[in-house]
Amino acid sequence: MAGVWFKDVAKRYGDVSVIEGLNLEIRDQEFMVLVGPSGCGKSTALRMIAGLEEVSGGTISIGPRAVNDLPPKDRDVSMVFQNYALYPHMTVRENMEFGLKIRKTPKPEMNRLVSEAAEVLGIAHLLDRKPKALSGGQRQRVALGRAIVRKPSVFLFDEPLSNLDAKLRVQMRSEIKKLQSRLQVTSVYVTHDQIEAMTMGHRIAVMKEGKIQQLGTPLEVYERPANVFVAQFIGTPPINMLSATLEADGAGLAGEGFRLPVPQSLRALTAGKGGAALKVGIRPDQLIAGDARARGETAQVEARVELVEPLGNELIVHARLGDNPLVFRMPPRESPATGAALPVAVELDSLHLFDAATERRLAV
Ligand SMILES: Nc1ncnc2c1ncn2[C@@H]1O[C@H](COP(=O)(O)OP(=O)(O)O)[C@@H](O)[C@H]1O
Ligand SMILES: [Mg+2]
Repeated sequence: MAGVWFKDVAKRYGDVSVIEGLNLEIRDQEFMVLVGPSGCGKSTALRMIAGLEEVSGGTISIGPRAVNDLPPKDRDVSMVFQNYALYPHMTVRENMEFGLKIRKTPKPEMNRLVSEAAEVLGIAHLLDRKPKALSGGQRQRVALGRAIVRKPSVFLFDEPLSNLDAKLRVQMRSEIKKLQSRLQVTSVYVTHDQIEAMTMGHRIAVMKEGKIQQLGTPLEVYERPANVFVAQFIGTPPINMLSATLEADGAGLAGEGFRLPVPQSLRALTAGKGGAALKVGIRPDQLIAGDARARGETAQVEARVELVEPLGNELIVHARLGDNPLVFRMPPRESPATGAALPVAVELDSLHLFDAATERRLAV
């Protein structure tokens, strides 16, 4: 068992810097998710742990030892890829045995490990098949099986669910999570899917352009996003982001087509900042229309309805507040008419305030 430690890690391809000053401590037995848009350097970070990419600067340690110069096979990690990377000419059993054979594991031991893993993953009946005779979900289970039979110190997952259909993805998500908590192996999981990150990670590191924007538990990141990027990246439907100017006395936010009072609970943040240009983040859940009950201090605004999406259990309402797009949910049987002016209560205590220039969260 071992944690993974990035210390000032950099990665360059020629003149192009892909990762810079990456500092991250992944604890022993932790499930860490690296999440961010495509191209932000997630796979590169993961591949550097595995030793598939060299480090251009800084140190990566697994457990107590720096591994920069250690070949991949000596790092005691197992990696699961998006495209499964199974050998097509080998059976499921042979695929799972492959890494063990290289390590010269005795046959009886190998049989035991493969049976055990196949049992856990529900693929015991598939051991004699070739990959082409398996569904996508079954192939991904085999890839997982191949990773776990080796009992590594660290699991590395690179978007392992991206090729599966939506329903299977949800199922495998919880299976991987259960597997990890059962095996208690330190895991680093890379995804561009914020819902995967939120539901699977003990902690998540939100990345953009090779840098960690925020590190925290899913709830910490959701409730206190450190900047506009994180606020907009995490959460479905995405957070509403309105431009506003703080009134001179710091007591109100004035924007195109709306005014919101600053609640007492946030006055410490706005004190002395009169005239500041801000971005105001409002999660869809903080906008209450219809007979639902709002919490804490609220303000009433009037939104113009543009589009209603019925999801069965709820409606997603796309509206405008002045010029600003505004999205929120409503109970399924209260569908407002398109074009209607709809009163909406804004829960003020959970407004997210960001400096418009730096895009950082206001803090005292
Ligand atoms: N071998 C390479 N040579 C040059 N640039 C690369 C190489 N591999 C990756 N990159 C660049 O590094 C950046 C990060 O890539 P990657 O880690 O694959 O992102 P992610 O996994 O987050 O989508 C991208 O801009 C990509 O184009
Ligand atoms: Mg990638």
